[in-house]
Amino acid sequence: ELVDKFRTPLFIPPAMPAAGKKVIGDGRRVDYYEISVKQFSQQILPRGFPPTTVWGYGPAFPEKRRSFAHRAPGFTIEAKWQEPVIVKWINGLKDATTAGFLPPLLPVDPTLHWANPPGGIAHRDMSPSFRATPAAYRGPVPIVTHLHGAIGVAGHSDGHPEAWYLPAAAGIPSEYAAFGTWYQFFNREASLDVGAWEPGSATFTYPNMQTSMLWYHDHALGMTRTNVYAGLAGIYMIRGGPEGDGAIRDARSGMRGVLPRSTSTHGPMHLPQHRNIREIPLMIQDRSFNIDGSLFYPHSRAFFDGIPGPFIPDTDIPPIWNPEFFANMMVVNGNTWPFQTVEQARYRYRLLNACNSRFLILDFNSIPGIEVWMIGGDSGFLPAPANMTAVNANRILLGPSERADVIVDFTRVPIGRHVLKNIGPDEPFGGGVPGTDFQMADPRSSGLIMQFHVTLAQEEDRSTPPQYLLLPNTPPLPRETFIRRLALLEKESSSFDESPAAAFLGIVLGDPGAGPAACIARGWKDPVTQNPAVGTTEIWEFYNMTEDAHPMHVHAVSFELVNRQAILVNEESGTVQLEAGSSPVSPEPWELGRKDTVIAYPSQVTRVRMTFIREGQYVWHCHILEHEDNQMMLPYRIGQAKQ
Ligand code: C2O
Repeated sequence: ELVDKFRTPLFIPPAMPAAGKKVIGDGRRVDYYEISVKQFSQQILPRGFPPTTVWGYGPAFPEKRRSFAHRAPGFTIEAKWQEPVIVKWINGLKDATTAGFLPPLLPVDPTLHWANPPGGIAHRDMSPSFRATPAAYRGPVPIVTHLHGAIGVAGHSDGHPEAWYLPAAAGIPSEYAAFGTWYQFFNREASLDVGAWEPGSATFTYPNMQTSMLWYHDHALGMTRTNVYAGLAGIYMIRGGPEGDGAIRDARSGMRGVLPRSTSTHGPMHLPQHRNIREIPLMIQDRSFNIDGSLFYPHSRAFFDGIPGPFIPDTDIPPIWNPEFFANMMVVNGNTWPFQTVEQARYRYRLLNACNSRFLILDFNSIPGIEVWMIGGDSGFLPAPANMTAVNANRILLGPSERADVIVDFTRVPIGRHVLKNIGPDEPFGGGVPGTDFQMADPRSSGLIMQFHVTLAQEEDRSTPPQYLLLPNTPPLPRETFIRRLALLEKESSSFDESPAAAFLGIVLGDPGAGPAACIARGWKDPVTQNPAVGTTEIWEFYNMTEDAHPMHVHAVSFELVNRQAILVNEESGTVQLEAGSSPVSPEPWELGRKDTVIAYPSQVTRVRMTFIREGQYVWHCHILEHEDNQMMLPYRIGQAKQ
C-alpha cells in the first residue's frame, strides 16, 4: 500500500524492429529478427520509487544504438498469417564490461530437476547438509525461448526445455553455449537438426499457421518460473488470413465488419500514439518488490503460506522452490497499476494472464455502463461474440497463459476515472464463486489491475457494434481416432527421478467410465508415452486428481475443448472413475474458440480434441510455472522416435 496507484500511463508495446529479411527454401523473403536477452533497469514502480533490475527481450542490432528498445515485457512481434518469421534468439546475459556471464537475478533451486549447467551444484546433491543450507546457484543462466501457441512449429524451433544454451561469455565452454547440446545429450531427438546456431544463440522459424495473439517466453528446464518472473516475456501477433480481422462481416450490411483500430500499422520503432489506437494488448502479471526496487521472489519455503519454514531437512520438499507464488502488486505491460485515457468508444483489448500462478477474474462489472464482449480466445476467434455482460456478469476468467480478445464498450461509461478490479483468488484456484469458495485478492493491491480515464469521444466510432459481428468460421477438427487418458497428480517424493518432485502428470490405466481405474505418475525423464502419429486427431482427457485447478497447455497444436465431467477420486487406492450418473458439461460460451491452454478443474475430467500436424519432440504441462518447473511437465512426440 506504500506504492501509489494509477500514476503511470499504460505502456503500449511498439512493434519489435526486424533485423531484415531472409530468403527461405521456397524463395520467399521473410521477416528476420535478432532478439537478445539482456539485464537492464526499468521504472516498473511509479516515478520516485527506485527502478528495478530486470531481464528483457529487445533488438540486438545495432547493439548500441537501439538498446533502449529492451523492455520487460518485450516489444510485440507482428507476424502475418502463413508468412514464416525467423528469429535469432540471443542469450545476452553477460556483463558489458568484463564480457563474463551474469548470475541469476532470483533464487534458483538446484535440487530440482533443472537445466543444471556447469558451474552449478549437481541437482542430485540431496545430502542433508546441503539441503539444510542450500546454496542458490550462481553460475551462468541458461535460456531457451518458446513461442506459446505456435501451431505446426518444428521440434527444433519450439524452445524445448532441454534445448537451453548459455551466453557466449568469457570462460564458458563453447559446448554449453551451443543450442541443442543437452537436448541431444538426453537423447530425446538424437538426430535433431538444430539448424543454424552460433555460440550463445538459436535461430527458430515460426510458420504462423493461425490468426491470434501468442506470446513468447522463456522455457528453460526448472527455471522457467524465475526467468519469466525476471521479465522474459513478450506478445506475438499473427494477423490476416481467412480467419483474420479482414474476414469479419457486419451482419447488418453483409459488408466487412470493422474492429477498433489496431496497432499493426505501426512500423518498426514507431511508438503508437495512445489516442488513435483502440486495440491494446494487456499483459497482466503479479510482482513483488523489495524496498530497494529489486524484484522479490521467495528464496525459501518459509515464504509459502501454510508451510512452516525454514526448510526441514528430513523431508523431501525442495528447500527453495515454492509450489505457487502470489505476488502483491499488479503489473500491466511493465508498470505497476497503470492508467489509460480512453474515449467514450469501443476498444479492443487483447488480454493475457502472464502471472506465474495466479488465476485472474477481471471484473468489469464495477464500471458503470460498461459492456464487454469476448470475440476470441487463445488461438483464434470464437464462433460468435459472447456477451460477457449477459453470460458472466462482465467477468473474464483467465488461468495462467489464457488469452481473451474482448471488445470493451465505454460509450455509456460516465466521464471520469474507473478502476478495473481483479476478484480472483490470492491463493490456488479450485473453481467456485469469488468471496464464497475462495479468498478474493486484496482489494487494496492484488485486487486492482488498472484505471481507465474515460473522456469524451473526439471522433466518431466507426467500429461495428459487437452484436453485429459475424466472426470467421473455424472449421471443426476431424473425428478423433484415439482417446488418451491422462492424470494430474500431486505428490511429494524423492524416489521419483531422484529429484524432490512435488507435482506430477501421469497416465490412467483402464477406463474410468467402467469402474475405478488406476493412475500412475510419469516423470520428465521417463520414456515418452504420449506418441501420436503425424496427422492424427486425438482426444486427451485430463483427470484432475488434485484439489486445485491447473491450466493445461499442449505445445505445437490448438485444440477444441470438448467437455468436462465429474469424477470420483480415491486418494488411498490412487484410482479415478467417472461419477455415477454424471453427464458431460459443455464448454462455457467464451471457451468455444480454438485454445491452447485450458482450465482443468479439480474432481473433473477435461477433454480436448486436437490434430497433430508436424513430427517432432514437444511438451505438455501445467502452466502454473512453479508446477511446470517441478515435474508437472512431460515430453511428448508427434511421429516415430528417431534412432
Ligand atoms: Cu507458455 Cu510450454 O508454455
